[in-house]
Amino acid sequence: MTVAGDLKTGFEFKPGLEGVPATLSSISYVDGKKGVLEYRGIPIEELAANSSFLETAYLLIWGNLPTKDELNAFEHEIRYHRRIKYRIRDMMKCFPETGHPMDALQASAAALGLFYSRRALDNPAYIRAAVVRLLAKIPTMVAAFQLMRKGNDPVQPRDDLSYSANFLYMLTERVPDPLAAHVFDVCLTLHAEHTINASTFSARVTASTLTDPYAVVASAVGTLAGPLHGGANEEVIDMLEKIGSKENVRPYVEDCIARKAKIMGFGHRVYKVKDPRAIVLQNLAEELFEKFGRDRYYDVAVEIERVVEEKLGQKGIYANVDFYSGLVYRKLGIPTDLFTPIFAIARVAGWLAHWKEQLNENRIYRPTQIYTGTHGAPYIPTEER
Ligand code: SDX
Repeated sequence: MTVAGDLKTGFEFKPGLEGVPATLSSISYVDGKKGVLEYRGIPIEELAANSSFLETAYLLIWGNLPTKDELNAFEHEIRYHRRIKYRIRDMMKCFPETGHPMDALQASAAALGLFYSRRALDNPAYIRAAVVRLLAKIPTMVAAFQLMRKGNDPVQPRDDLSYSANFLYMLTERVPDPLAAHVFDVCLTLHAEHTINASTFSARVTASTLTDPYAVVASAVGTLAGPLHGGANEEVIDMLEKIGSKENVRPYVEDCIARKAKIMGFGHRVYKVKDPRAIVLQNLAEELFEKFGRDRYYDVAVEIERVVEEKLGQKGIYANVDFYSGLVYRKLGIPTDLFTPIFAIARVAGWLAHWKEQLNENRIYRPTQIYTGTHGAPYIPTEER
């Protein structure tokens, strides 16, 4: 597309704001050429190996690793707030079973705001309460919709289980294997934050109007749902099932390239090497396969990665976070259309960190545009059109 410049401001329009700084932030850092991702300066590989999702969420939101007492208090508050109001459960019972879980999550996240006082944004206690409620209740709502769309009553959270073990319990009504709970928790850490991606940008724009944090998260959930963003993990599984075998990989990839169709789980606006999260997720998948058996599509996935690298590596197109995450979730027995809601459960931590950071030095987002329309057009009466 021709890119117009604005004579007055001197700025050039960049489609998708590619390469245009939209904020100052100290929450996370990505080097797309070196494949580096850091949360508050700590490499993602360190956090994946040593931290937990809740400890990582605390780091992202409050800017420092918590002491043992701070983490215990935070985990205790989250456990206490995991339950959702019966009115929200009753509302979710009216949702159609065929509805997408991301639409159910966006509706129920916005509904949370109906129960809590609006916009005491200058009160640190309000900020902390909103952080705790959203981190605690989003998993409960995702699991509740899953059971209700099957015609069952949702189960209450179990305070004796960790954050990730409790989510898998609420989802499957079975206490998960410790390895499954651990791998799931690492997946949440890997998906928690990623600088100013589309859904985080939505969160910051919504936050800048000083609306309530529940509306901020609902706005971000709607943005994450798209197949070019968080919805890609679901599309990857559909692609693997469609290809079916290693032999079909090369013709499939060549056909996509010929049609200029996007291959799901590949490419990234920032990474021009393999996404560091994809590397960790691939290792997690192999860890699960060792204990619970290999996924029949894993070899197809490895072959797709090999062929795409051969064909598109020189264009900087490599596997991103969404390429292997679905295989991990499948092995954990999670339905495909819940992969993106799980991405949202994790990314609530990053959205809340950006919500707080935006409030620290807020200025409402209101960019300009380069007008390409006409001026002084006449109004033509209906009968003359
Ligand atoms: C996430 O931003 C983030 O940080 C997001 C995320 C996060 O943690 O928040 O990392 C999570 O959203 C990961 C991305 C998940 N999406 C997908 O896997 C969908 C498939 N990927 C593409 O849609 C694409 O790569 C994007 C959207 C991710 C990035 O697109 P860009 O930067 O706008 O790149 P583009 O569409 O302008 O493509 C540039 C070139 C084009 O070729 P040319 O026209 O220049 O010849 O690269 C090609 C594209 O055709 N290309 C691909 C491709 N991605 C880009 N070709 C084939 N398959 C692909 N996946």
